[in-house]
Amino acid sequence: MTAPTRSYTVFGTIVPSSLCFASISRRAVTIRQRDYGSSPLKLSNSQERPLSTTTLCQQQMSMASHRVPIAPQSVDAPLTQHATFLVLAVRSPAEPQTRQAIRSTLAGMSGRTKTVAMRDLGGRFSCVVGIGSDLWDHLFSSSAEVKKPAELRPFRPIRGGKHAAPATRGDLLFHIRAERRDLCFEFERQLLDSLGRGADSVVEVVDETVGFRYFDARDLLGFVDGTANPLGAALPASVLVAASDISSGSNDPCSDPDYVAASTAVGGSYVVVQKYVHDMARWNALNTEQQESVIGRTKLTNEELDDVTETTQSKAHKTLATIVDEQTGEEHDILRDNMPFGSPGTGELGTYFIGYSRRLWVVEKMLERMFVGVPPGMHDRILDYSMPLTGTTFFAPSASFLANLS
Ligand code: HEM
Repeated sequence: MTAPTRSYTVFGTIVPSSLCFASISRRAVTIRQRDYGSSPLKLSNSQERPLSTTTLCQQQMSMASHRVPIAPQSVDAPLTQHATFLVLAVRSPAEPQTRQAIRSTLAGMSGRTKTVAMRDLGGRFSCVVGIGSDLWDHLFSSSAEVKKPAELRPFRPIRGGKHAAPATRGDLLFHIRAERRDLCFEFERQLLDSLGRGADSVVEVVDETVGFRYFDARDLLGFVDGTANPLGAALPASVLVAASDISSGSNDPCSDPDYVAASTAVGGSYVVVQKYVHDMARWNALNTEQQESVIGRTKLTNEELDDVTETTQSKAHKTLATIVDEQTGEEHDILRDNMPFGSPGTGELGTYFIGYSRRLWVVEKMLERMFVGVPPGMHDRILDYSMPLTGTTFFAPSASFLANLS
């Protein structure tokens, strides 16, 4: 005789007890109304082992993404095994037909995402599109209803004493993620086909980098990458432009057309990308302790090391990339989904850096601290082993902004 399988009903779905691995309590769990729809969720605890709130949230999210595709422009989409970072330059962006083609591609993001994602909901397919500063001007400068996001500007190149961060071309960024490589491939193929091929295309591929997850989310330098990313409520607070970021001179902002046009940025995110190649021979010549002092974490166990406070000593990467607001003392986080890329055959390999932020100046400040150094001259030693080949800034608008373009 087989043992009876315990199960719970969550959001109308039977969940086997094997999935219910979190804390054990005898009380029914009520999920807060404002987070999870109009009626508070009550869990039946007839089996006396309800789930913790956190586990329920995670399950609800994961079940939702198994029922329907992940919504377009979900910058917080889960870490996946595969990603493609596609940067395009638009040919003749001033031409009305080109502008029309680009607007219709942007407006069609939701449909195109569903077309590919529905083919395997377990593949957790998602795509975020970012628009560069110049293209934004071409697409929207004549519209009174859309104002440029306040901080959107081209990537600012940085020249430090020893290392430089170049600015490179790019009008559109597609950050394509999935558990399966074929889903990323298929989306990109359909997208580029829709924009025309060869000389007929309205775009030119500036860079196409295929990233892969490396063991336990490590970069090719061997360190776990992404640990300090914001979680939970801190994530949208760090990453998405909020209504409170838009200022209005009027007492009644909603009747101020300027404010309404500026608020089209709400729910969007600034995105900065840089493609770094590593000098693995030089990096591997360091011993583990030296590498750990460059990064600021232990290599095997990923534990954070204490910050260096003396001005004469080199600071770790994680210290230089920490931005504290001088007035409030608040730390400004960004969301990174860096991916290793490369080919042992050609010897070119590295880290594709991607950072999403509610405030572009935060990422710019991180880069300045890394390349110029703190104090100036004491640059981030990660740069002695990693060279940026590209540097481009975009704004990823909200999904509703894109949908309205149609
Ligand atoms: C070669 C490229 C890079 C590599 C291999 C790399 C790797 C890492 C690693 C291993 C960590 C520690 C674990 C973690 O918290 O994720 C880290 C932390 C971090 N990195 Fe990078 N990184 C790179 C470039 C950048 C760039 C260009 C920025 C920003 C413009 C950046 C921003 C950060 C931030 C904000 C943290 C967390 C700091 C904290 O502890 O609060 N990284 N990076």
